[in-house]
Amino acid sequence: MQIKVESGDITQQSTKAIIVNLLEGLSQPAGATAAVDGALDGAISRLIADGDLRGKYNDLTLVHTIGKIPTAGVLVVGLGKPEELTLDRVRDVAANAARYLRRQRCRSAATVAHGAGVAGLEAEACAQAIAEGTLMGLYTFRRHKKRDEDETDLEELTLVEEDASKLEALRRGVELGIVLAEAANFCRDLANEPSNVLTPSEMAERARAMAHEAGLECQILERKDMEDLGMGALLGVAQGSQQPPKLIVLHYRGAPGEEGALGLVGKGITFDAGGISIKPSAGMEAMKGDMSGGAAIIAAMRAIGQLRPAINVTAIVPATENMPSGSALKPGDVLRAMNGKTIEIINTDAEGRLILADALSYARRLGLSPIVDVATLTGAISVALGNVALGAMTNDEAVLEKVKRAATAAGEKVWQLPMYEEYKEQIKSDVADMKNTGGRAAGSITAAFLLKEFVEDTPWVHLDMAGVDNYDKEKGVMVKGASGIPVRTLVQLALALAEERGQPASK
Ligand code: BES
Ligand code: MN
Ligand code: ZN
Repeated sequence: MQIKVESGDITQQSTKAIIVNLLEGLSQPAGATAAVDGALDGAISRLIADGDLRGKYNDLTLVHTIGKIPTAGVLVVGLGKPEELTLDRVRDVAANAARYLRRQRCRSAATVAHGAGVAGLEAEACAQAIAEGTLMGLYTFRRHKKRDEDETDLEELTLVEEDASKLEALRRGVELGIVLAEAANFCRDLANEPSNVLTPSEMAERARAMAHEAGLECQILERKDMEDLGMGALLGVAQGSQQPPKLIVLHYRGAPGEEGALGLVGKGITFDAGGISIKPSAGMEAMKGDMSGGAAIIAAMRAIGQLRPAINVTAIVPATENMPSGSALKPGDVLRAMNGKTIEIINTDAEGRLILADALSYARRLGLSPIVDVATLTGAISVALGNVALGAMTNDEAVLEKVKRAATAAGEKVWQLPMYEEYKEQIKSDVADMKNTGGRAAGSITAAFLLKEFVEDTPWVHLDMAGVDNYDKEKGVMVKGASGIPVRTLVQLALALAEERGQPASK
């Protein structure tokens, strides 16, 4: 799929279709839509007058041009009420329009910068939202599936702008939108992959190949390295699997003169059967996605490598399976983590916090700060927040504030849960420094308290994405399967932290 920006007249496009928009409540179309209406001898205003075209958010109306302009069809997308129009809506509308045209077997289309006209949103941001929405909305995962014979792709979208002074901003917006959407789609490719294909070794190989392309350094730590480092918690989870564990480390150096780096840590359980505390079989297939946090981190590094912000970023992804077997970890076992702390295993299905414990210690060893970890950690987070928002927990309100701002810029949602000391009681153990589950109550928070034992005083934000890693239906930029959340938030965070330092990008 190609997206480009060109100067020109939207009524004179040779593409199969053009996409224009309508705000709700307007009796007359405005801007580019008015120009198209004029070229069609008032067809659009007649539809409005008849009450057949109302501009409701996400309405899609195809108007045939019967030879009056070069393009065969005009798709009018509803933007909703002007006062309710946001970039999130522009992004979702672009996604819906692109899927609609694909269903119509349309291969090429031209569009205008929805939202940048009378609605008054910034042109560059609208262009970004359109590119992001189109590429994310059209995403499919069909590596393992034969194509339907009559299936076609939307191959080309041209953003057409009459005002030449706006072209540069529109191009910048489209460029950024493409990088972000491609990163989110790369994350989806990893997370959708079945676990027999995406083993920890394969995940490491894909990270390595990506790093090579994006100009990042990549290091893969093997079981032996983990043993030398004393990563007993990560090794404890891995011991039940036939697949060797990998610790994937990626470095981006955008501020070579500096010591510090932002640390991104992601859960990489390529399949979570629960271990000896085995999960029920219904729905277990979804646990191929239990590496979504790690995938998001790797994908964010791809975009960071392309955008080259002036900041150092290091990504750490502990990758392993969580399987039941004769050699598997058992309830009652005690593990010693890399930082020397011991953990009593109550439930082997609470494995994410164990592998993250050692990954977080390793992040500290590398001196990373702040640290943001991302994990499909607890079912409890979807009880609390459903499939709408990530849960955030922190030991540093200022860093969380930055993460929340980045999420807003990205169009993703992050909601904080409290870290009151009282919750820590629940993970006290009689035989070890802590136990790996704290009961049903506040399950997401007690999981975060275990992680906190390993970040110690490093500023840290934990993002529990177990509610939002996967969707079962299309909605705006979301399609069925892996969501690609929170790739865009992580990239925006790196960009914002670099900007905060107020230095131009190196190289
Ligand atoms: N990977 C799961 C969490 C999960 C659940 C992710 C549903 C996506 C969808 C995690 O490893 C897990 O099993 N958590 C347990 C913890 C419990 C045993 C304390 C859970 O949430 O039930
Ligand atoms: Mn589990
Ligand atoms: Zn898990």
